[in-house]
Amino acid sequence: MEDFNNISNNIVQEKTYNIFQDWKINKGNIKGRIVLVLYRLASLIRSKKILVIFFFWYLLFYRIFVEWFLNIELHWNSNIGKGLRLEHGHGTVIHGDATLGNYCTIRHLTTIGIIKHEDGSYSTAPKLGNNVDVGASVTIIGSVNIGDNALIGAASLVVRDIPANTTALGNPARVIKRHNEAEPFKQPSHGTE
Ligand SMILES: CC(C)(COP(=O)(O)OP(=O)(O)OC[C@H]1O[C@@H](n2cnc3c(N)ncnc32)[C@H](O)[C@@H]1OP(=O)(O)O)[C@@H](O)C(=O)NCCC(=O)NCCS
Repeated sequence: MEDFNNISNNIVQEKTYNIFQDWKINKGNIKGRIVLVLYRLASLIRSKKILVIFFFWYLLFYRIFVEWFLNIELHWNSNIGKGLRLEHGHGTVIHGDATLGNYCTIRHLTTIGIIKHEDGSYSTAPKLGNNVDVGASVTIIGSVNIGDNALIGAASLVVRDIPANTTALGNPARVIKRHNEAEPFKQPSHGTE
């Protein structure tokens, strides 16, 4: 049985306020670099009440510029580990309660969000482990955990847990391959905008 409880603990421990923590991994991807620096700055401001008081104008700018103009809803409250790769960032939506581990990759038209249940209550947000690679046009919704090094195929709908070191795809996403834990499978970078 997979232990998904560590996912958020690992990330909280590694959380740093270095606003350039995603810079290197997004080499050649100017849009990804800019959006992630703006996101880290918004997260930093949001983490302290005093900073919100002085820099509320920045949060407003972030919302308008990144969400409206750049078309990326990367909520400042989301818990994202270092080294996020944001490829072809268009139409990406990440809920404020979502958790992403270190060195994850997210592509265009990807949604990581919550579900509203019939009784009006909401699910918790998805938790992704370290080094999770999410293909283009993927939707991950609900109280879903995705283990380390998992690879989610393009255009998949993930509504159930995906174990570590696997490739999962389809609607609903199912595991089609298990990888060697020592050598996690990694998609080649499709890099730039
Ligand atoms: C899932 C993925 C990683 C391929 O993994 P793989 O281990 O190399 O799998 P294969 O190519 O051997 O395909 C295995 C099977 O899954 C099918 N398949 C592959 N990707 C699929 C997808 N996204 N959705 C549905 N089926 C898919 C293949 O057709 C094949 O089916 P078959 O066994 O009936 O022939 C890759 O197809 C993918 O979706 N990568 C995401 C890349 C991306 O988003 N790129 C966008 C860049 S802009």
